[in-house]
Amino acid sequence: MSESIQGLKRSCYCGQVTLEHVGQELTLMGWTHRRRDHGGVIFVDLRDREGMVQVVIDPAIGETLFSKAETIRNEFVLAVTGKVRPRPEGSANPNLKTGEIEVLATDFRLLSPSKTPPFYIEDHVDVDEMVRLKYRYLDLRRPEMVSSLKLRSQVNRVAREYFLDHDFLEVETPTLIKSSPEGARDFLVPSRLRPGEFFALPQSPQIYKQLLMVSGIDRYFQIARCFRDEDLRADRQPEFTQIDLEMSFMEQDDILTLIEGMIAKMFKETLNVDVPLPLTRMSWHEAMERYGSDKPDTRFGLELVDVADVVKGSEFKVFVQVLEKGGRVKGINAKGCAKFSRKEIDDLTKLAAIYGAKGLAYITLTEEGYKSPIAKFFTEAQIQALIQQMKGEPGDILFFVADTESVTAAALGHLRLKLGEILGLIDDSQFNFLWIVDFPQFEYSEEEKRFVSMHHPFTMPREEDLDLILTDPARVLAQAYDIVLNGVEIGGGSIRIHQRPIQETMFKALGLSDEEAREKFGYLMEAFEYGVPPHGGLAFGVDRLVMLMLKRDTIRDVIAFPKTQSAMELMSQAPSAVAPKQLRELHIGIRTRSMEA
Ligand code: AMO
Ligand code: AMP
Repeated sequence: MSESIQGLKRSCYCGQVTLEHVGQELTLMGWTHRRRDHGGVIFVDLRDREGMVQVVIDPAIGETLFSKAETIRNEFVLAVTGKVRPRPEGSANPNLKTGEIEVLATDFRLLSPSKTPPFYIEDHVDVDEMVRLKYRYLDLRRPEMVSSLKLRSQVNRVAREYFLDHDFLEVETPTLIKSSPEGARDFLVPSRLRPGEFFALPQSPQIYKQLLMVSGIDRYFQIARCFRDEDLRADRQPEFTQIDLEMSFMEQDDILTLIEGMIAKMFKETLNVDVPLPLTRMSWHEAMERYGSDKPDTRFGLELVDVADVVKGSEFKVFVQVLEKGGRVKGINAKGCAKFSRKEIDDLTKLAAIYGAKGLAYITLTEEGYKSPIAKFFTEAQIQALIQQMKGEPGDILFFVADTESVTAAALGHLRLKLGEILGLIDDSQFNFLWIVDFPQFEYSEEEKRFVSMHHPFTMPREEDLDLILTDPARVLAQAYDIVLNGVEIGGGSIRIHQRPIQETMFKALGLSDEEAREKFGYLMEAFEYGVPPHGGLAFGVDRLVMLMLKRDTIRDVIAFPKTQSAMELMSQAPSAVAPKQLRELHIGIRTRSMEA
């Protein structure tokens, strides 16, 4: 029951018909959003990527066509030819771009029928995400999803234009590469031609873009697909997209300035938002002190306050012992929260516990005075000093965590975000950008009992810290930078090491033997012997950027065909088992559970 498109030419998109077309005959093609029968006349809302238009099918069209019109159901694909006319007095729809006109059909063809879809193709319908993902091609018909994909396409266009205008070359780097996991796990691809050997999918084009600098490409960019086999979250997918770039003969400041220019252009041209430049720059240390996070949401205050000086002389052993062991005691003033119930405080305590806090001490301030389970350990003067330090006023609750530096920061940092949310302090209309600079070069991994790179092993330390790489790694600061938007890391980069001896020292500091370093990165080290320009770069996470631009909660909403939280693609049901023949060709045998035990 489907008819041919032969001989028909579309005049424009359904969503583009306006009063200017009145009197013209147009041919439109699209999906039936809804069919309504009214007083012997059939109305079809015809929808395409650009919007919707009302088509009127009158019995005057002829008996055959009219009875065909009566078979139209939701999501049938039609080609309609008809005359544009203004809607009758009083029936204009101000909510619709095409609301002032309608198209009186003179002919139409039924190009494709449709089963009843599992959900209405409409924004704000309450559909389980699993169902949306299984029928993603239907989900993507929803205007909200179309606008995600459009913005994404524009973001890529602006980035491409900006970098091309600034003398960058767009170069594609390979997708089948050598495995050298650092940070996340690699996705592996077995080699058919070399039994037992594997390619990896790139976690980023990092080494290739550096080699392009060695080649003298000077300025490179790529809209690159990256693959990381890590645990998924709302802002993490196993495959995601970076706007990746690298430049030679530039210092950190010049790189940040050039990138800021792109951000400003992107927000102006896509959202018509002015981003004031230069963007704020904050050291990693300051971000951790004030916000307990290396990606602080600076749209609101509620900053962390160090109270070590005040509590160190108290009788509260928990606090004093933490300080004696080199830990921290910090607090946060939950403004106006003195009315919190026991349960609300318990919930916040549980939140702090997720990040390792062993407790959450508090002082409630009222007009009558203060109440606190820890008051008994403090003198009146100490309590007053504490309140003063925290700028406490009647109506506030002061929360405290005592623990190691990192636990205190993480627990209070997350408590701060939660309080910001509860208290409605976060202004959703803002785009708050921030550079975080002066990162530590290393962080100590308790799990691996060694220092690991905070960024990656190719990041250059500050010149003045080069001598400390092996002797005092914890003190080395890196020439690395992250760009943060509304509390989400949307990009990161660094100046790179371009001197072989420094790179070798770095591998040593990271616990790689000479042999391992040679095996994994020998080609890079060799390249470093042939004239290397000083260079640096950055990569943006496109998915996160677009998510934030659209105020969505997950990057799945800005990816055409994303994976679920458990790394499945529900539509095609990937990953899936493969035929024994395929495995044999790849020289792969599957271990059964009993073999693993
Ligand atoms: P990095 O690992 O910081 O740096 O990645 C850059 C940006 O990519 C985004 N991102 C992700 N987005 C979605 N899902 C993921 N699993 C995911 N992982 C990272 C983030 C992040 O800021 N080669 C370096 C860049 C450089 O040094 O030039 C790199 O990949 O927004
Ligand atoms: P306790 O004396 O163990 O009953 O603790 C008294 C109060 O101090 C309780 O409210 C605990 O939640 C809190 N507390 C215990 N350990 C810590 C800690 N490391 N940091 C902050 N508060 C704590």
